[in-house]
Amino acid sequence: MSRIARLSDVLINKIAAGEVVERPASVVKELCENSLDAGARTVRVELEGGGVGRITISDDGHGMNREDATLCLERHATSKLRELDDLFHIDSMGFRGEAIPAIASVSRFTLHTAEPEAHEGTKIHVEGGGPPTVEDAPPRVGTVITVEDLFFNVPARRKFMRQGATELKHCEESVVRLALAHPEVGFFATHEGHELFASPASEHDPRERIAAALGPASFPHLFPVEERRLGVSVTGYLASPEYTLPNARGLYTFVNRRYIRDRGLISTVQRAFQDFLPAGRQPVVVLHIDVEPRAVDVNVHPQKQEVRFADARGVQDAVSAALSRVLRASPWLGTPEQQAANPPPRDAAHYAHAVERFLTRAQEATWGAPLPTAMDGPGPSQPARPLSPSYFAPPGGGAPGPFPGPAMPGRTLGFGEAQPQLNEAPPPGYFVALRPMGLLGSRFHVCEGPGGTLVVLDPHAALERARLTAYLRRLDEGTKAPAPSLFGTTVELSLAAVKSLVDGREALLLLGVDVEPFGGTALALKSVPPGLEGVDPRALLEALSRALPPRSAPLDVTSLAEAVRVMACHAARRASATPLTDAQLRALLGELDRADFTPPCTHGTVVVLEMPLLELERRAR
Ligand SMILES: Nc1ncnc2c1ncn2[C@@H]1O[C@H](COP(=O)(O)OP(=O)(O)OP(=O)(O)O)[C@@H](O)[C@H]1O
Ligand SMILES: [Mg+2]
Repeated sequence: MSRIARLSDVLINKIAAGEVVERPASVVKELCENSLDAGARTVRVELEGGGVGRITISDDGHGMNREDATLCLERHATSKLRELDDLFHIDSMGFRGEAIPAIASVSRFTLHTAEPEAHEGTKIHVEGGGPPTVEDAPPRVGTVITVEDLFFNVPARRKFMRQGATELKHCEESVVRLALAHPEVGFFATHEGHELFASPASEHDPRERIAAALGPASFPHLFPVEERRLGVSVTGYLASPEYTLPNARGLYTFVNRRYIRDRGLISTVQRAFQDFLPAGRQPVVVLHIDVEPRAVDVNVHPQKQEVRFADARGVQDAVSAALSRVLRASPWLGTPEQQAANPPPRDAAHYAHAVERFLTRAQEATWGAPLPTAMDGPGPSQPARPLSPSYFAPPGGGAPGPFPGPAMPGRTLGFGEAQPQLNEAPPPGYFVALRPMGLLGSRFHVCEGPGGTLVVLDPHAALERARLTAYLRRLDEGTKAPAPSLFGTTVELSLAAVKSLVDGREALLLLGVDVEPFGGTALALKSVPPGLEGVDPRALLEALSRALPPRSAPLDVTSLAEAVRVMACHAARRASATPLTDAQLRALLGELDRADFTPPCTHGTVVVLEMPLLELERRAR
């Protein structure tokens, strides 16, 4: 007898149900998502027995004709995906064509649907994945699906159902997540006739929807968040530190309108808040992260609650910058005038640490060992606490400038290693107004800054920022021709690198790098964009070969971002190897005033460190 047998469709659907349909809340999620994909303006959810007894979802979407209604019960039948390529730019909530057959295989399932203007509708009933009965039904607007006795034919799974109240909470949470992601759609939910959630479409003020979802008390504490960068936009609301929770349940992150739980994103949000919340409290945040569908893989989790970003770090940086900007402005503390009248206390320890970090780095750059600093003297040692950005407002209450970044827990950051959001653009004309005074540690430029501040400029970070801007602009302009360059050399590389570079020739040309196969593992590097002449060509090409996007990726700013960062980093490394002349420094300061401080660079370095002299005087006493 043969050992292998093909599984029946009923069994296959039940197995799929094990992954897709974890509990009643998953049914609510899947069916509401189908309603959204069908263009519904209103979705109604009626529950009984915590959702285990009965779930009814009705919508006013485009409905289905008889053929589609019958087909939708078959596994892998979907209207949302046709070709492999569609999988890489999904803009619907569903795409696998497995939710309905999976749900129908573990419940008593009834579907009633019709297309607009149709004279007749269709009703289909399925018991535990058995053969469907199809009958005529009155016409109706949209679709209504009823799921009764969930898991009635999977006793093992039914046993795992929690108390009705717990399942109900999960169902409610499913509705809340969908409602937060789709304020333009009305959501109404009841349990045994009692209202659970009611929110008509609220397109004008997104705070109305948040208040409906999180409770009306949240409304006055909500502040808008917005950060738009190439390839990623972050919008939404954060609640001021007066409105927090003891757990992370108020932390909602949506990627392309899909509720996502991503560890990297959650810890980015928590880090942004860590300096503002009392111990044991968690922020309340509703964040919508929108990236090009091609820049995110949504097909990595059975319930689509996780995603994989092409540039996870870029997304985290954007989230971090978006939150920090609002937190730093502390709008809940009142208008800038009110804040100026009642300034937050300055924390001398922050500056002491900034100075210490800077001196350590300067010392290491020059002599290879840290200098003793004021911090080694008698007195209690200061903990490496993160800096509170609100302390950064320069005297006079102007816009905050660039500053040393917060230390990560458990590690003191070296100068120039701070968090990227602190690379934000300073006020216009900031850099050309600096008055260079000399070199520190044969490397760092010490300048007098606006309002009598001491400004220390890291030439490597500054050059990297300037080059990054120049290379991104070139890419944005779509210049195809290689940059004119006298540079030309032949390099021996690894086989993998040669293959990747030859495959990526078109991408390289967009970046201004022209390579040609030279036989075997040799490549001719014919030209590079300004700033990269004279770099170690082998190191540059090996690094570029790893940073190029896969062949199938579109050649746009998102997919080429990593390669641009590599080029900027190599250009800066070469140029900062020797101290800048006065003329070079002047030119660089001019470039920095025109630089774009939003895209992250390889090391997330801080270009300048600024210290109010008043603070230094106080430390010296
Ligand atoms: N409420 C609805 N209104 C109109 N069409 C619907 C509705 N629900 C389901 N459909 C149709 O049935 C098809 C199958 O739905 P199902 O949820 O099983 O798969 P999917 O949404 O395509 O993918 P996924 O399994 O990822 O959710 C859908 O592609 C859609 O065409
Ligand atoms: Mg679906």
